[in-house]
Amino acid sequence: MWRNRDLIDLTDFTRRDVETLFKQADVFLEAGLAPTKMLEGKIMAAAFFEPSTRTRLSFESAMHRLGGSVIGFSSAEGTSIEKGESLEDTIRMLDNYSDVIVVRHWEDGVMRRLARLAKKPLINAGEGQSRHPTQALIDLYTVFKEKGVVEGLNYGVMGDVKHARAAKDFIRGLSLFGVREVNLITPRGLMPEEVFVKEMNNKGVRLNHHERIEDLISVLDILYVVRLQAERFSNRSEAETLKGSYSITLKTLEPASRGLRILHPLPRVWELSSEVDGTPYAAYFKQVYFSIPVRMAVLSLILSDMERIQEGLI
Ligand code: NCD
Repeated sequence: MWRNRDLIDLTDFTRRDVETLFKQADVFLEAGLAPTKMLEGKIMAAAFFEPSTRTRLSFESAMHRLGGSVIGFSSAEGTSIEKGESLEDTIRMLDNYSDVIVVRHWEDGVMRRLARLAKKPLINAGEGQSRHPTQALIDLYTVFKEKGVVEGLNYGVMGDVKHARAAKDFIRGLSLFGVREVNLITPRGLMPEEVFVKEMNNKGVRLNHHERIEDLISVLDILYVVRLQAERFSNRSEAETLKGSYSITLKTLEPASRGLRILHPLPRVWELSSEVDGTPYAAYFKQVYFSIPVRMAVLSLILSDMERIQEGLI
């Protein structure tokens, strides 16, 4: 169930919840993302403490299409945080001004703390190196739209899985659907930390490590690519040495099966060549499009009785 809930960690939700959300996203998609008055009078506060283009603007776009309005900021600059206000007080304030609070922050673990303070539902729009649940919902929805299923496919996740929250939450999302094995293609040193590997093992997901995409490209159905998260390295020169250490080009894709789909949360830097954009493999611009119906579904399920309407209860 979604109504009035915080969306902090995808694994607080069930596969059934995610399927309910997919159904609702389908409704918006089939209506051509037409504006509605579903959330008329509701206010979404966007509190972004880290850079964002897609996530913030697509949340805003989704809220506007639902007839609601948006307040917020896109960096701590210009807010009272600069005067020394605590993050907690900033959230308390937004809790008074809005009906739902969408937060992006660099600190792992911060979202639960903030959600406890806020009476209004809080949505995690990217938390440190660990979580990005709405991106994962978009990614799972894209797989579902492209393949008709999420389970039973052969998955590869390529790049800086250690620092990329989008990659980790994509894998958490797959675990909800009963996926038992995910192949990670990462340069040495960019495997996720042990605690994540253990978390996934406990959910029944085995993570296999590969260093060369060539060894498995021909058997993959889905390849999820993430950029090197250079800004998250404690040692910037180490990031510099890893520049260009993995990439997808037309040449890499020669042995791929025709059904392969490539996903990328974007932004991309050098890890995914633009020569792939015009091929049937590219699903990453569809992900961008699906971010609107999926975030419309998130907001409408949390803020209205859509789920009960969907189930014919009212
Ligand atoms: C991702 C993020 O912020 O974690 N971007 C996004 O929300 N689409 C991925 C990234 O920055 O690499």
